[in-house]
Amino acid sequence: MKQQVRPVPLSGPYLDEREEELVLEVMRSGRLSLGPTTDRFEELFAAKTGAPYAAAVSSGTAGLHLLCISAGIAPGDEVITTPYSFAASANCFVYEGGVPVFADVDARTLNVDPAAVEAAVTPRTKAIVAVDIYGYPCELDELRAIAQLHGLALIQDSCEALGAEYKGAPLGSHGPSAVFAFYPNKQMTTGEGGMVTTHSEEEWRLLRSLRNQGRGDEGGWLEHVRLGFNYRMDDVRAAIGIGQLEKLETMLALRSSVAKRYGELLRDVDGVELPCADDADHRRSWFVYVIKLPDREARERVIAHFEREAIGYNRYLPSIHLQPYMRERFGFREGICPVAEDASSRTLALPFFTALEADAQERVAEALAAAL
Ligand SMILES: Cc1ncc(COP(=O)(O)O)c(C=O)c1O
Repeated sequence: MKQQVRPVPLSGPYLDEREEELVLEVMRSGRLSLGPTTDRFEELFAAKTGAPYAAAVSSGTAGLHLLCISAGIAPGDEVITTPYSFAASANCFVYEGGVPVFADVDARTLNVDPAAVEAAVTPRTKAIVAVDIYGYPCELDELRAIAQLHGLALIQDSCEALGAEYKGAPLGSHGPSAVFAFYPNKQMTTGEGGMVTTHSEEEWRLLRSLRNQGRGDEGGWLEHVRLGFNYRMDDVRAAIGIGQLEKLETMLALRSSVAKRYGELLRDVDGVELPCADDADHRRSWFVYVIKLPDREARERVIAHFEREAIGYNRYLPSIHLQPYMRERFGFREGICPVAEDASSRTLALPFFTALEADAQERVAEALAAAL
């Protein structure tokens, strides 16, 4: 009888009895939403990221959308962003009628290239949405300088980058408002969920109102001072978040070891380009492990091998401007962002999560070497 191979999943959360205990406490308290656990989670998160204020939301996408509203993005405003990202980093302003202007990325970091951002500024530009892709900090100081020079809002999409550091300080602490996400493949999870960090008390109050149907600080349950949303995080999720924050350092360290092991296993595999290394200004928080292969065909060869071996993978990340709805709505075509498009054609996410074991990683490395 043919022996079954053990599947290696692409990702997975890291939870234990502590989260169960905290969730149970909330369930028994009867305060399942708008309760003290969400407030506590926000305080702990703000302290962890070095941001003065944090507002919990129902997802990273919801957080980004609220920051676009806070930035005043209105129909026809241009927003410069990266094509090499998850769709939500561009969708967040399209919801408000913003028009995406994609600036190409740096081939090494895969983050938006500040020179391309500068070149894309027009009198209609309203904001920049920068992404810390795969947990590697973007060029925050250069982007801030461009935003200041042209009077633009700068929104930082740090959904993939909790725990990363730029110039020696954690993302969230630098000034621009940032969004973090907690889907189960992230560094930490709440199931679904997100957090916005801000250095402005006024913006924090606005975010709390917007996520809560536009209710004001004063006034009752049925008084709405602005057009709002239900983008709240409930206390059950916040409880999971508190448990996750308590072990964040441990999880980040384990993820770093997993990444280091891949580095050692894949260093000498011909045709594999590893994720870019940290430098003095950029310290990555490991979200996924994405390699570059020689070309699209090599990637498909690897994928065929992975499928036979029951190894998880994903073609991270397609260029946003070439997604069917973006082509249709804005007329984008190939060639607008050649560096991103090239990366999109040959990058591949390998199985990567906090508890990934060495023998599974060895199987991934063997499958890669065999395919290439
Ligand atoms: C770069 C980026 N932005 C935004 C999001 C959206 O986060 P969520 O799935 O919590 O809405 C994600 C999540 O995958 C992401 O990777």
